[in-house]
Amino acid sequence: MAPLNLPDFRRLRPLRKGRGNRLANAETRLDASRFVYPMFVVNGKNIVQPIAAMPGINRMSVDVAASEVENALSRGITQFLLFGLPDTKHPDGRNAWSHHEAVQRCTRMIKAHFQSATVITDVCLCEYTDHGHCGVLADDPAVTVDNDATLPLLARAALSHADAGADIVAPSAMMDGQVATIRQELDRGGFEGTQILGYSAKYASAFYGPFREAADSAPAFGDRRAYQMQPAQRSEAMMEIEADISEGADAVMVKPALAYLDVIREAKVKFPEAPLYAYNVSGEYSMISAAASNGWLDRETAALEALMGIRRAGADYTITYFALEAADWLRETEGGIF
Ligand code: PBG
Repeated sequence: MAPLNLPDFRRLRPLRKGRGNRLANAETRLDASRFVYPMFVVNGKNIVQPIAAMPGINRMSVDVAASEVENALSRGITQFLLFGLPDTKHPDGRNAWSHHEAVQRCTRMIKAHFQSATVITDVCLCEYTDHGHCGVLADDPAVTVDNDATLPLLARAALSHADAGADIVAPSAMMDGQVATIRQELDRGGFEGTQILGYSAKYASAFYGPFREAADSAPAFGDRRAYQMQPAQRSEAMMEIEADISEGADAVMVKPALAYLDVIREAKVKFPEAPLYAYNVSGEYSMISAAASNGWLDRETAALEALMGIRRAGADYTITYFALEAADWLRETEGGIF
């Protein structure tokens, strides 16, 4: 048989030959200091409540959260995002600004005991309202939540977090003007140094399903489509980000992450100076967890690949329930390189 005459072509496979080459040529590496660990805190003592759809993630009381924070810090994770579950809920979500609630107490605990930790608090009313929507209800069902009536309540919640010592408050209610209103309230209260992370481009997503079990925040009726963005939008996400920056946001977010990598990419290109957070949400964690526990996916490589994709797309920081485990995997893999 005559040897085939091969055409000229470029050889790229040498870039991948052996792990040494792959490590040397890696364009992106994961780093635990870029992870944010979300935690669900409840009132009481010595409470650990597993979340069925999110194996490994628990709701916990503040005393338990202290050891979780210690675990995370020992792995190089320094940023924490706190969600609180109150014992009682009201139409206006008033426990959201109570100084005695779990988020406020957990913030004080972390700031008192862990110097190197950064506390980010989620500012929303959905965990605190008896109807589960992110603000006070509007008369018009098509509007669902009354935007302007909700703004001062979000500002009160943010102020109570700042007062407890939060480094960063993160409004996630998707009300227009929430960043401007919170900035004004914080400045008035003497908290000019408290930063705001806008959940700027937050989509109405099916991937929040497990979170709503975790945070007991599923809407009692309807959905959040009248305030969270529809998945069809990309340009609108840029407008949301631009609006948050102009209102005084110190950092912005795209959420969820995996179905919105194009939005992450465009946000980083259009607003390179704004620190960009991406939220690898509950459903994204549950999907990999469920497939892995069935033996259909390898948990470690699938999770690290997803996290690598989010970082490669342009996220500076990734909020992820995988943070603690992933930090251990990163040590073994020199930044997630196989
Ligand atoms: C509160 C909030 C939600 C999430 C973060 N903040 C739920 C929602 O908007 O319904 C979702 C986080 C996750 O799924 O991991 N508004």
